[in-house]
Amino acid sequence: MFQRKSIEQLLLEAGASGEGNLKRSLTSFNLVALGIGAIIGAGLFSLTGIAAAENAGPAVTISFVLASVACAFAGLCYAEFASMIPVAGSAYTYSYATMGEFMAWVIGWDLVLEYALGAATVSVSWSRYLLEFLNKYGIHLPHELVVSPWETVKLGDGTLINGGIINLPAIFIVCVLSLLLIRGTHESATMNNFLVILKVAVVLMFITLGWSHINPANYDPYIPANTGVFEHFGWTGISTGAAVVFFAFIGFDAVSTAAQEAKNPQKGMPIGILGSLIVCTILYVLFAHVMTGLVNYKDFAGDAKPAATAFAKTGYTFLQDALIIAILAGYTSVILVMLMGQSRVFYSMAKDGLLPKFFSSIHKKFHTPWKTNLFFLVFVSLFAGLVPVSDLGHMVSIGTLFAFVLVCIGVMVMRKTLPHAVRPFRTPWVPFVPVMGILVCVYLMYSLPSQSWIRLFVWMALGVIIYFAYGRKHSKIKAVVNEKIID
Ligand code: ALA
Repeated sequence: MFQRKSIEQLLLEAGASGEGNLKRSLTSFNLVALGIGAIIGAGLFSLTGIAAAENAGPAVTISFVLASVACAFAGLCYAEFASMIPVAGSAYTYSYATMGEFMAWVIGWDLVLEYALGAATVSVSWSRYLLEFLNKYGIHLPHELVVSPWETVKLGDGTLINGGIINLPAIFIVCVLSLLLIRGTHESATMNNFLVILKVAVVLMFITLGWSHINPANYDPYIPANTGVFEHFGWTGISTGAAVVFFAFIGFDAVSTAAQEAKNPQKGMPIGILGSLIVCTILYVLFAHVMTGLVNYKDFAGDAKPAATAFAKTGYTFLQDALIIAILAGYTSVILVMLMGQSRVFYSMAKDGLLPKFFSSIHKKFHTPWKTNLFFLVFVSLFAGLVPVSDLGHMVSIGTLFAFVLVCIGVMVMRKTLPHAVRPFRTPWVPFVPVMGILVCVYLMYSLPSQSWIRLFVWMALGVIIYFAYGRKHSKIKAVVNEKIID
């Protein structure tokens, strides 16, 4: 259970080329684009309004800064690991090298919450924007087939859809992107670059066109007084807002899952992780500033598409459609990168014997873990089609924060156990940075609803059962140890 993998062994496995291995095809630019691809999405375009209306007012900009600080601490730790151990599998692999097999399994299992459920969450938001767009042009899909059971959706024209049967558009986008991923990493990265350019262009368009229409009266008061309820405004509201918009930053770590496909991972990993985080933080703060300057924060209450509402204030109505299309494209790239990250984590776990071989099988022609992609096509579709979006979102946040905590712990452990290993990138101020990362992430976890804690425990308990029933018996590292004992 506590057996660790040596870095040499990990690099050797990852370095082996040829059939059955992933292909090194991603440049530093691809990696930054991959990060931005996974980061900017539902968090920015949907949650900013909610956090402003309910928690922070115009000071949601400060919430974004706080959330970015939490991510920066974790990002600096990720960068050290990713440059040192540039192997698919991300936090799962790092834990294998530092804390042993059991913790590696725990984190790998936990990452399903981040990547698979993250993809499901964003595909539900995607389907909402699509519905809105089609509705505008008089195309009305049958209500039962666009909303999951137990979910109520309010459309822009006021129509209320109360609990359908299944969310087919969400399933549709998951299937298309899973098939694209099977087709090839390079093809997927090219498509991602295109989507990211479109997405960043629309964010810049929103900021520049919106800036001159800001009404300064909307910033008064900038930090609305706390109402007496912890999460409603004031500084405590700002910190709760940070936990809400944290979702907007999820995904920068997905860059590290592609380490084994990077051309020059030692340099590319830190650039990809920290570069995408910095670019997104700047864009987010400016975007939130313009958004709350265009519309009074109170008016965002209950608005599922606040970006479109705010943009309508600029008077550039002809650009409204472009905005929605670009937002759809933006969400698409988030789903794509999340699905890719998920398949790479399971690929690594299966290579280590902790999951059946099925998950590490590589397509002979496309060089992608196609069976894993197919498995998650079904798994993510089930969640996207049947589970309400808010339940999904909280699960994603708590799962991700838990993974960040383990990565921060891992960096400190690694500094003790392997002080002289080559570190192309070193996390500065250890242990200050990882300790702060742990404290801030735990605080954000604490701010999430108690239900998400219960679900996290149930999911992790299920994982522990599977580990003892399957992984522990089939682990390759265990097999090696046993052979040594017999010798
Ligand atoms: N950060 C991603 C988003 O906001 C998950 O959609």
